[in-house]
Amino acid sequence: MRRRVRTAVLPVAGLGTRFLPATKVMPKEMLPVVDKPIIQYAIEEARSAGIERFVFVNGRGKSMLEDHFDMAYELNAALRARDKMDLLKVADAATLPPGAISSVRQQEPLGLGHAVWCARDLVGDEPFAVMLPDELTLSEPSCMAGLIGAHEQTGGNVISVMDVPREHTSRYGILDTGDGEGPLFEAKGMVEKPSPDKAPSTLAIIGRYVLLPEVFEHLARKERGAGGEIQLTDGMARMIGQKPFHGLRFEGRRFDCGDKAGWLEANLALALERPDLGDSVRSFLPRYAR
Ligand code: UTP
Repeated sequence: MRRRVRTAVLPVAGLGTRFLPATKVMPKEMLPVVDKPIIQYAIEEARSAGIERFVFVNGRGKSMLEDHFDMAYELNAALRARDKMDLLKVADAATLPPGAISSVRQQEPLGLGHAVWCARDLVGDEPFAVMLPDELTLSEPSCMAGLIGAHEQTGGNVISVMDVPREHTSRYGILDTGDGEGPLFEAKGMVEKPSPDKAPSTLAIIGRYVLLPEVFEHLARKERGAGGEIQLTDGMARMIGQKPFHGLRFEGRRFDCGDKAGWLEANLALALERPDLGDSVRSFLPRYAR
């Protein structure tokens, strides 16, 4: 019988240097997009796809992330006393069921592959999701629900990919695919941050994965790849040919909130869609967009 995808690993041990000084003390995953921390969008996406357990791969100073998903007794009591039941509901939407979150420490930021490997004992011997929370994806059904559906179909690894301009390939892991139009591509290989002339395609890996537990064996070798880091892409590439491996083209909207321009765009896009904010943003925007 196929095992269900129950667990999502969220690597959050990076330093977030692109957002200094905001991230001197606060994790970048707590930056809000409009009024909700970036990390909460990822957790909501995962829950909508049926995921029940969350493993944070933390660095120092990231305990605020776990606190955000904990019950806030004092706040709840104060809101109840003031009869602010609508706000209580908003605050409580970020409270996860008891025991749903665990965390491990990645003592040194040795790379994304190493961060995922740190979660091996909490994941165990079953397929699992990896989500980079600074990638915000919006679609219906969610990006993660699409991956889990494809995993249930193929029984193997499935990762989310999106077409990017060829001049941007060196920012991403790039999938080498066979023929076919997609949306599901059989993976023939993958390479981390290739230069545009060496990129095997323009299908970029965008931070949502469903992986088989065998990836931990490959990551355990701790081989250094691009940038001297232990790359998840290299560990995944080793499963190609051994286990089914597919890329699924994501058709929704994606914002790279680890980057200042991407984060600002996400704020604008979501604010414009909000019934309580859209009109006022639309009214002041022309003053700045000249
Ligand atoms: P980034 O490349 O965005 O790095 O990592 P960063 O440190 O978070 O941000 P900048 O570039 O300094 O501004 C991509 C994802 O992988 C995680 C990060 O937390 C982020 O979610 N990561 C990366 C780890 O957890 N550990 C690592 O060793 C590397």
